[in-house]
Amino acid sequence: MTDDFEKIISLAKRRGFIYQTAEIYGGLAASYDYGPLGVELKNNLKKAWWKAMVAKRNDVVGLDSAILTPRIVWEASGHLQSFHDPLVECKSCHHRFRADHLLEAKQAEPGYIKEKPIEMKDLKCPDCGGELTEPKNFNLLMKTELGSVEGQKEEAYMRGETCQGIYLDYLSVKESMRKKLPFGIAQIGKAFRNEITTKNFTFRMREFEQMEQQYFVNPKDAEKHFNYWKEQRWNWYKNLGMKEENMRWRQHADNERAHYAKDAWDIEYNTPWGGWKEMAGVHNRGDWDLSRHGQYSKVDMTYRDEETGEKFIPWIVETSDGADRAVLMFLVDAFDEIDARSGEEDAKHEKEIVLRLHKDLAPIKIAVFPLSKKEPLQKLALEIQAELWKKRMTQYDESGSIGKRYRRQDEIGTPYCVTVDFDTLEDKKVTVRDRDTMEQERVEIGNLKNYFDEKFDD
Ligand code: GAP
Repeated sequence: MTDDFEKIISLAKRRGFIYQTAEIYGGLAASYDYGPLGVELKNNLKKAWWKAMVAKRNDVVGLDSAILTPRIVWEASGHLQSFHDPLVECKSCHHRFRADHLLEAKQAEPGYIKEKPIEMKDLKCPDCGGELTEPKNFNLLMKTELGSVEGQKEEAYMRGETCQGIYLDYLSVKESMRKKLPFGIAQIGKAFRNEITTKNFTFRMREFEQMEQQYFVNPKDAEKHFNYWKEQRWNWYKNLGMKEENMRWRQHADNERAHYAKDAWDIEYNTPWGGWKEMAGVHNRGDWDLSRHGQYSKVDMTYRDEETGEKFIPWIVETSDGADRAVLMFLVDAFDEIDARSGEEDAKHEKEIVLRLHKDLAPIKIAVFPLSKKEPLQKLALEIQAELWKKRMTQYDESGSIGKRYRRQDEIGTPYCVTVDFDTLEDKKVTVRDRDTMEQERVEIGNLKNYFDEKFDD
């Protein structure tokens, strides 16, 4: 793990973004909670996704389907048969690993010779050097039981991907919303996978959140829509400030595509801990999902085009984003450690952290500081905050020097700080300081609302 990544993980915990689940009991592997600032950041991210994918479109509608699903859904989807990772176990320490991840890691090592690829038999346990078992397929779905009477319990599954709920409701949505192809259904929600490798913070969790959209199309137009959605998803990350030099497209090779995919492209992010890693995907799922659910449920999924008379099973172009992975990548991308810039007035320090989050994502939009804790500045600052929080998330801070207070806000990515000082009592103006440029402006209290309405696109 690199220094920067360790610093980001430590900041996430120290400043209330992300905590390990059940930490007081030693923690639960691959499970994390979002703290007060983390939940704001993640909600802002989901809001931005919903705005772009549902609220500002006529051809996509939203859905919130159940997490619990009967077994037959996952038989039909092919996940019970094919949703596997290759698992190996160390014969000495019994630690378990994903065989493909071990191979991948070895092939990124300095001595690796491309002409002589590393094979499973060359690998040893990375923890103790012991011998590894042959890879076995390990199904990732999480099973549970419904009902209260032993022996009569019904087997159910926590969904392994949110899109399955969309396929189950496809006909109901189409009919109730009078939709014609092409149209999309989007949802944000939890998904569950019994992951084998649980390293790298929130990158790979067992309980995580997906933001998925399924676009139902005439098969002959699938490629056009596929290219369109690829561009949309790339631009979403870019418009929220992600640096393009840290992003790239990668097409899945024939032997790595999921069982449902005819074509699959990932947006990868150049991570500080392991180079290029999947952040999001766009998949051409063909007619796999609706055909299979039609077959297993015996409900006809055929679409009849009223204008052309064509009949076909719609193809699906899927956009699939991980909310947790996106939060992590935006944190990594926004993290900036710079030389001290906030003056000498308090404890000596050489470095400062600035989280350069996009304004739409920042958990706190505006911080309000009175120069002194005493009346009348305190009361006036609280009144100003109460006006500002009508529209945006704010934070009030009256402790420590102004420099320290700026630094606290820079670390959590707050775009603007408002300081109420003694001059404010005379000129009815406050100082607004910009996180990135450090410029300070005197703004009339009566004009603050308009001032921030112009600064934020919300
Ligand atoms: N419906 C298609 C699908 O689920 P996927 O590539 O398995 O495709 C899509 O997952 C996205 O979900 C990934 O690009 C990633 O952002 C997120 N994701 C998948 N597994 C995850 C995990 N264990 N922890 C966090 N995010 C995960």
